[in-house]
Amino acid sequence: PSIVRDLSYSLTSPLPADLLSTNRSSIFSGHHGQLTLTSVFLDEYRDRLFLGGKDVLYSLMLGPTSTESKELYWPPLPGNRENCIQTGKDPQTDCANFVRLLQPYNRTHLLACGTGAFQPMCAFVYVGHRGEVSHYDLNVENGRGKVPHDPSFRFASTFRGGELYTGLTADFLGRDSVIFRSMGGRSTMRTETDQKLLHDPKFIAAHVIPDNDDRDDDKVYFFFTEKASEPGDREGAIHTRVGRVCANDVGGQRVLVNKWSTFIKARLVCSVPGPHGIDTHFNQLEDVFLLRTKDERNPDVYAIFSTISNVFQGFAVCVYRMADIREAFNGPFAHKEGPDYQWGAYEGRVPYPRPGVCPSKITNQPGREFGSTKDFPDSVLQFARSHPLMWRPVFPALRRPVLVQANIPHKLQQIVVDRVEAEDGHYDVMFIGTNVGTVLKVITIQNGNSLETEEVTLEELHVFKQAIYVGSPAGVAQVKLHRCETYGKACAECCLARDPYCAWDGFTCAQYTPNNKRRYRRQGIRHGNPALQCVDQNLSDVDVTEDDVVYGTENNSTFLECVPRSPQASVSWLVQRDDRKEEVKLDDRVMATEQGLLFRHLLHEDEGVYICRSREHGFSQTLVRLSLQVLQGDAVDELMSRDNAGFSDSIKERSAGSYRAWMPCTAYRSGTSSHSRLWFKDIVQMIGPSNLPHVEEYCERMWCNDKLRRKHKSMLEKYRQAQESARKARSKSSGERNRMPRDLKARDV
Ligand SMILES: *[C@@H]1O[C@H](CO)[C@@H](O)[C@H](O)[C@H]1NC(C)=O
Ligand SMILES: *[C@@H]1O[C@H](CO)[C@@H](O)[C@H](O)[C@H]1NC(C)=O
Ligand SMILES: *[C@@H]1O[C@H](CO)[C@@H](O)[C@H](O)[C@H]1NC(C)=O
Ligand SMILES: *[C@@H]1O[C@H](CO)[C@@H](O)[C@H](O)[C@H]1NC(C)=O
Ligand SMILES: *[C@@H]1O[C@H](CO)[C@@H](O)[C@H](O)[C@H]1NC(C)=O
Repeated sequence: PSIVRDLSYSLTSPLPADLLSTNRSSIFSGHHGQLTLTSVFLDEYRDRLFLGGKDVLYSLMLGPTSTESKELYWPPLPGNRENCIQTGKDPQTDCANFVRLLQPYNRTHLLACGTGAFQPMCAFVYVGHRGEVSHYDLNVENGRGKVPHDPSFRFASTFRGGELYTGLTADFLGRDSVIFRSMGGRSTMRTETDQKLLHDPKFIAAHVIPDNDDRDDDKVYFFFTEKASEPGDREGAIHTRVGRVCANDVGGQRVLVNKWSTFIKARLVCSVPGPHGIDTHFNQLEDVFLLRTKDERNPDVYAIFSTISNVFQGFAVCVYRMADIREAFNGPFAHKEGPDYQWGAYEGRVPYPRPGVCPSKITNQPGREFGSTKDFPDSVLQFARSHPLMWRPVFPALRRPVLVQANIPHKLQQIVVDRVEAEDGHYDVMFIGTNVGTVLKVITIQNGNSLETEEVTLEELHVFKQAIYVGSPAGVAQVKLHRCETYGKACAECCLARDPYCAWDGFTCAQYTPNNKRRYRRQGIRHGNPALQCVDQNLSDVDVTEDDVVYGTENNSTFLECVPRSPQASVSWLVQRDDRKEEVKLDDRVMATEQGLLFRHLLHEDEGVYICRSREHGFSQTLVRLSLQVLQGDAVDELMSRDNAGFSDSIKERSAGSYRAWMPCTAYRSGTSSHSRLWFKDIVQMIGPSNLPHVEEYCERMWCNDKLRRKHKSMLEKYRQAQESARKARSKSSGERNRMPRDLKARDV
């Protein structure tokens, strides 16, 4: 599946440099370098990506190496740029045609709308049939009410049955906030100008969601924030709303002529319990993604919220169910007797048909049939006008966010969600775009108790087939949804990665495809427990058993690098001297950093073998073994002067400011005499020494039980043989190495 989403809003900084160096993505930056991207439409039918920018439209061929692209220059209409500049707007950031809207219109044309230098305009763009190279034919028509005048204003739009629904500010000054319906054969519809209906709204998303099989019951939902009117809120507080209109609303006959007669709205709550019983509310809506499912009436609504206060800056993702949204709309209306009264639930008689209900076969009652909103009694229209807000808010599923990030150095701005089938059910993988040009890939996992969820950050993508397209002003990048191969070379690591796109196939960590009948399919997304998932797999691959030698100079600083593959793992350092292992004592001189262990001032007694271990879900693993050798001043001089290419290179490397002098290894640990011991040891490492009683119990069950033992015997036998040959191979090569002189000629291990 390709998930398609315009992430152009989020990426205000240029694409990071490392993006360009990765092979995971391809990037398009426009024909003239800087692509000022303002809209994206991915056409899966034609296999094309359409991009809108400043005075320009692009059509790109989709694919891993999309080199073919067409450009169309589309400036403002003659004179409009000059008029715009005359009104004092900025020639660069205001007075151009920023293409903000790209929608499929019919089989042959796209609808494109741009700001036209503060004179919005639209065009039908001829795009031809599948595989055909597109050409363009512009028929310019008025874009007022379709996109905002100001390129920096957010707006929301959706297209249904040849009609365009938009939520925007529709005037030059940016004051007329309105929900519009335009194009198609019917007359244009809009909201009345009334703060009760919309109070300084900022529109984020608009979607058509059916209620049932009767198309007359289809509703258009708008997600936005506006100034709060409810009690208990500070001046200037904002709330997030979901509002809706019937798609077949044609307004009233005498009142509300060409104005929405079915508009109602409810508050969307996203909060976490805080100290002293006061909830922390995330009120500012940043983005919405509709995760469509087989049941088109019940998509899941994913929304990013933010809150910014003096004490707390945070972001949250909340998921709403359509059933909860509909329940709020079917509940009581919010009501206030007068300016000095409190808000409460409206308890009087609600006129029929109930405001918010569409005229349709399903909603009509016998003898009281309404063919159109024009037949609605005036009392209904009056009530709708005075009671647009519902009394009950909509709470998220589980009543709390699925993801909360507080006091982080970046902002969460855009979200796309992909539902992935895995061995043990489905998972929703969220891709979240940040303002610093990164994309977070996150799953949340519910553990048994339905209220306990765990979030797992899979990777932080520094860019952008199965692909996600990510746009920034600088360009559009296409990024694979997964890269299972980066999750290490062992079953346990693949399992710990807990990426629903990946599974251990017996040989590698590879893309998981449901229905694939291959024998080995191991995934451990819910629990990430390799002890259960990988029990018959080769666990000896996981631990590093060789020592690399690192040199440091006395009184100088040195760095031992160790970065765990998984962002959730915790790292600990042990030092081994004379067969005794102990934890490294950390202080001002010896510091643990995210990248490794830093010695700010190296002492002779720091010599030893340093072991970096990562731990996650009871699984621990040796990532790095480094034999630190401390050189004294004269030893350094002597070594520097020696004619030894390998060695002096490494010294040079170090003196050039890199403190990593990676040297070949000489000492292999001698093989363990008893293989079953080794096996046992591996299990201990997996489960962790603190759980030793469990290990005993586990091994008892696995190997000491007769029935199971027979079952596992052949497997174990294979394993032992493999171990044995590996051991032989190792002792052979280590024998050769041991004959090498101590001054370490070869740099390869
Ligand atoms: C990138 O991928 C292509 C095709 O898969 C491959 O031929 C090329 O060697 C890769 N480049 C790098 C730097 O990995
Ligand atoms: C699509 O719409 C355009 C613009 O209205 C029109 O010129 C064209 O004929 C339409 N194409 C089809 C196949 O209906
Ligand atoms: C390191 O510092 C100590 C005390 O400051 C000094 O005695 C020693 O000679 C120094 N060693 C080197 C190699 O500079
Ligand atoms: C410490 O390391 C720096 C950088 O490699 C080097 O310039 C300096 O001479 C070293 N000092 C000693 C005392 O070895
Ligand atoms: C286990 O791993 C070792 C070392 O990587 C390898 O030599 C051996 O063939 C593997 N054994 C099996 C059963 O895959």
